[in-house]
Amino acid sequence: MTEREQSFLEYVQSGGQVEATDWMPDDYRAKLIKFIEMHGNSELMGVLPEREWILRAPTLQRKLALTAKVQDEVGHSQLIYRVVEDLGKPREQCLDDLISGKAKFHNVFHYPTKTWGDVGVIAWLVDAAAIISQKALLKCSYAPYARIMKKICWEESFHILHGRDVVLTLMNGTDAQRELVQEAVDRWWGPLMQFHGNPIAKDEDPMYVWRIKSQGNEEARQQFLDGYVPQIWELGLTVPDADLRKNDDGVWEYTEPDWDELRSVVTGHGPKSQDRLDLRRKARESSAWVRQVVLAEAA
Ligand SMILES: [Fe+2]
Ligand SMILES: [Fe+2]
Repeated sequence: MTEREQSFLEYVQSGGQVEATDWMPDDYRAKLIKFIEMHGNSELMGVLPEREWILRAPTLQRKLALTAKVQDEVGHSQLIYRVVEDLGKPREQCLDDLISGKAKFHNVFHYPTKTWGDVGVIAWLVDAAAIISQKALLKCSYAPYARIMKKICWEESFHILHGRDVVLTLMNGTDAQRELVQEAVDRWWGPLMQFHGNPIAKDEDPMYVWRIKSQGNEEARQQFLDGYVPQIWELGLTVPDADLRKNDDGVWEYTEPDWDELRSVVTGHGPKSQDRLDLRRKARESSAWVRQVVLAEAA
């Protein structure tokens, strides 16, 4: 590392923030692009499991709320891709890498949404897991990313309320409705526990070292468990892990998540990975003429 890079590292580690026009080490820029691009991809791919339920939502209110959530998530991906673009990678290239399978998106968006119970569990618990990571990005050393996270976090908290309301309504309904939620929690628990990644030590995580993230993977998972397991239990739901408990020192113990499954899913081998990428590919092909017309207009 050169002297200039070393002093940059010290600057970000002591809480300093960087703007798009500031000098930054190539490694830092590359790490930012990779991390932020995956976030943008996840927002974009994350709408696919939910959009499947817009036409099947049980009431007009639910349909409106779900449509609004889906629009929010697409908006998040727009904002995030703009940040990546300023760092030097055009959005078109991000989309090319996404549909070719070169770039990744979060594990939870590679699974099917089988029932309306899934819609509630995704908006409540998947968004909860996501907001824990996103809140930690409010202190990101790259200021433009930290700034857009304010708007994103505000909207994500609203998604959680929507999800919680769907779940509460089902839990106050019939036995069949309660079973729908329990069955969804059982299926989503594994992916949720894998969501924050393997418990790599903070100081060995380059994203933490550069202060792109301000918390380690395990810290995020513990925060998720602490915030949501009591709420899950309070509703009379169970979690499919007999070893899950909070120790006297406040640390949650749990069965080791399936890291092989995580690796295979995020590399495009999840149950819905290829279907969803195909859909994105087709959408991109069928809308190509719109981009051509708009860009020709602009030129
Ligand atoms: Fe989002
Ligand atoms: Fe969300």
